Amino acid sequence: MVCCMCSRSVQILSRQLKLSQLRVFHIAMDTVPPAASGVRSASSFLFDKAFVNGQWVTAKSGSVYQITNPSTGKTIGSVPDMNADDTQQAIEKANAAFLRWRETTAKERSLILRKWFDLTNQNKLELAKLLTAENGKPLKEAIGEINYAAGFIEWYAEEARRVYGDVIPPTAASKRMLVLKQPIGVAGMITPWNFPSAMITRKACAAIAAGCTVVLKPAEDTPFSALAMCQLAKEAGLPDGVLNVVTSSRDNAPSVGNTLCASPIIKKISFTGSTVTGKILLQQSASTVKKVSLELGGNAPFIVFDSADIEAAVQGTMVSKFRCSGQTCVCANKILVQEGVYERYVARLAEVMKQELRVGDGFDDSTTQGPLINSKAVDKVESIVEDAKKLGAGLLYGGKRSDKGENFFEPTLLSNVTVEMRCAKEEIFGPVAAVIKFKTEEEAVAIANSSNSGLAGYFYSQNLSQIWRVAEKLEVGLCGVNDGLISAIEAPFGGVKESGLGREGSKYGIDDYLEIKYVCIGGL
Ligand code: SIN
Repeated sequence: MVCCMCSRSVQILSRQLKLSQLRVFHIAMDTVPPAASGVRSASSFLFDKAFVNGQWVTAKSGSVYQITNPSTGKTIGSVPDMNADDTQQAIEKANAAFLRWRETTAKERSLILRKWFDLTNQNKLELAKLLTAENGKPLKEAIGEINYAAGFIEWYAEEARRVYGDVIPPTAASKRMLVLKQPIGVAGMITPWNFPSAMITRKACAAIAAGCTVVLKPAEDTPFSALAMCQLAKEAGLPDGVLNVVTSSRDNAPSVGNTLCASPIIKKISFTGSTVTGKILLQQSASTVKKVSLELGGNAPFIVFDSADIEAAVQGTMVSKFRCSGQTCVCANKILVQEGVYERYVARLAEVMKQELRVGDGFDDSTTQGPLINSKAVDKVESIVEDAKKLGAGLLYGGKRSDKGENFFEPTLLSNVTVEMRCAKEEIFGPVAAVIKFKTEEEAVAIANSSNSGLAGYFYSQNLSQIWRVAEKLEVGLCGVNDGLISAIEAPFGGVKESGLGREGSKYGIDDYLEIKYVCIGGL
């Protein structure tokens, strides 16, 4: 286990990396207030091993890969580059642990989760610093994410004790008919880099609360937040083998994913990420007929009707579009504005973007827009903007790479966007607001629903009949009405169409980790 940068493992690592690279994490930490006395430092949560069966482990091959800070491009540290063999071993440990964990009472599981929640809260700032270092999001946003992550731990500590079965009125006087809910077994999970902590607790804590055990592969770019969570879970008393984290580079990720999906031991797969990968995992899970939940890409419509409160709509756009520099699955993607308010909305949005958005390192207090996750993401956003410009979109703000560094792109406002442009058809996943003008409600709903995705959708209107009509017609799993930030621990998160299967969070989130067993007692 590596708890601090002066530990033995880091000394070994220092022989492989330049000293200047090794210091980056400390330098980044120095730009924010130090930990208060008695509080653990962020670097004490930096682990360079994977976590299997309660132990900090290397890859069997001994391989490691390096994680870079997307703001600076400098190395933060390294983690094991695990493969199918390592994953198989973790699955077996999780299976052995499942036999014990499923026998615990709901209250025992709840108390451990509660302790984990308390520890997460106590170390909030330090966990947030780690998250900013590996993901790049502004520290204030990272603190928000740790609150969100902790909230899921707390929620599932509570939900653990609310898993009720049923008693069915029997079909004969001599029978009793019951429904039991039982943990499904070992769950395999693959989590994304845009929410390196919250997506872990949203999935893993539901499983753990239900009595399942977990083998989780965090995103290649952001393993440190996942490993820090393991440490706190261990301190909270989570037994060995209940939560296992297998780290791997992009090269090994497909074999780790396939091992999880094809394993007959794994009874459930939960994945958040791209639609392309989700479809592959779904196919790979078919051979063992496992339950699969998928939180995949979106192309969220954000509709502003003539009756809307324009100031509220602009504020809603800001929060929906620019959270995590536009890299959330629920970000406003195609912004549809009715012709009567189009000019006013676009002018005000441009003004607010100029006033409020500041690009920079997430550790800088004034930053609201961190980097994109890597240079490939910047290339994609740049090509989407170029496509729109070529096809006639107006550029009202930004539009190019930022001079802050390789992974930064300027917040951008495109007007007169049409449905043929890539920014309307594809998930942008970057800080680009693409505004389309429309005439009628029917036209807006048709454009909104024209996509294969259906995760989030938003609209602004003061017309009550229109609110009901459009909320019911939008083909999405999450619908924001006069609100741009709707994700909540208490609310079900998930999509329709190719945006996925299943729901996470809320009272529904635990269902995917439970099997329903019907028991009929006859001859009474
Ligand atoms: C996402 O999955 O990108 C969004 C997560 C959330 O808002 O809960």
